[in-house]
Amino acid sequence: MHRSPWPTTAARDASGVLTIGGVPATDLAAEHATPLWVVDEEDLRSRCRAYREAFPGAWVAYASKAWCTTGILQVVADEGLWIDVASGGELYTAQLAGVPMDRVVFHGNNKSVAELTRAVELGVARVVVDSLVELQRLGEVATAAGRDVQAWLRITPGIDAHTHEFVRTGQDDSKFGFTLSLGLADEALVAALATDGIEVVGIHAHIGSQIFGTDPFVANAEVLVELLSRWRDEHGVTLRELNLGGGMGIRYTHEDHPVRINRYGEAVLRAVADACEDHGFPLPQLAVEPGRAIVGPSTVTLYEVGTVKRLPGVRTYVSVDGGMSDNIRPALYDAEHEVQLVSRESTAPPMAVSVVGKHCESGDLVAEHARLPDDLVEGDLLAVAATGAYTEAMASNYNRLPRPAAVLVGDGRARTLVRRETYDDVVARDVPIR
Ligand code: LLP
Repeated sequence: MHRSPWPTTAARDASGVLTIGGVPATDLAAEHATPLWVVDEEDLRSRCRAYREAFPGAWVAYASKAWCTTGILQVVADEGLWIDVASGGELYTAQLAGVPMDRVVFHGNNKSVAELTRAVELGVARVVVDSLVELQRLGEVATAAGRDVQAWLRITPGIDAHTHEFVRTGQDDSKFGFTLSLGLADEALVAALATDGIEVVGIHAHIGSQIFGTDPFVANAEVLVELLSRWRDEHGVTLRELNLGGGMGIRYTHEDHPVRINRYGEAVLRAVADACEDHGFPLPQLAVEPGRAIVGPSTVTLYEVGTVKRLPGVRTYVSVDGGMSDNIRPALYDAEHEVQLVSRESTAPPMAVSVVGKHCESGDLVAEHARLPDDLVEGDLLAVAATGAYTEAMASNYNRLPRPAAVLVGDGRARTLVRRETYDDVVARDVPIR
């Protein structure tokens, strides 16, 4: 895997224009307009394969919350991945994409009865139970449908991953799962074993997102294997499935140093094997749930520069034609992304700029600390790297901007994944009162 935030096939043609999948950025902008999400198919597929190779025999479930659209799910499912859904809408998208339901995992800390019913009717592979009340609801739904549902219990393992607090989920103070240290996990096991319609087959824990290094993942694996072995000893049940969640960090800028997928796999597999040996516990069927690491690095967003405002001694603002409605991450998490001029070559010296969006809000940042050529002008195209995860998925119509299109590029051609919204789409749900 290459050490850059740009997708695998990103290159410059003879005139200095960025090409992805062999398609020049200028052609993409001319045909599909901007802003535009450009997904490098080769990059996306190669990350799916890298995950499967790093975790031989494991179920690799793509966390569709990162980017859930039928085309993306089709690519990922074609690569043999499972799909993790966290709502009825994601489940419906998986259904439309033709994802086999025996490769779907259903998550969520507050699934509705309607969502659970749909999941049971469709026959999803596993439901991840998050609370005692849900256990009861799921048992009732399963019994009414005359089925047994294979369930994982979501454990909150008490691991504090060092990442942004909004994307930390493994610490005790969390809305997710059964807190191990407070005895809730044991309570859940006892309840699950006694619930009609539920067959508890494993456990799950997801400790957070955009995590660098392997230590928190190793700690998670150790805690969970220890729990499985204690349950065998104390409750006489041997659960055979272990889902270690997602969370591997990616490179947003050249300063980020995530581990490689294969090293992460090695570390986790070794931790599980060692812990199993220590406890004399059989090797479980493993599952992992990467979202960001599958889709994040595959995509760039193309924008057109609309204005360049130079404030001598203060700052230079470069305004583009999108912003927080197509990427909320800088505003929400202080996320940094790399940005480049991609529609031409420039030999002008770099200048420090803040790339900002077109929304009526000062926090509408695209790349606050960017360096772009000093001769930047209106009409230039910029590309922002590593925008595949949690951008389209979290997009909005703030200021009533139509959401952008997305294209899948490879072998010199581009296929539409999501069409651009129109103003009619934007007002489609409005109900005038006269
Ligand atoms: N499994 C579960 C149960 C999760 O909650 C998540 C992410 C994943 C897997 C996938 O994690 P990943 O591999 O993508 O780190 N909007 C935030 C990220 C929120 C992550 C939520 N859960 C962001 O833009 O950084």
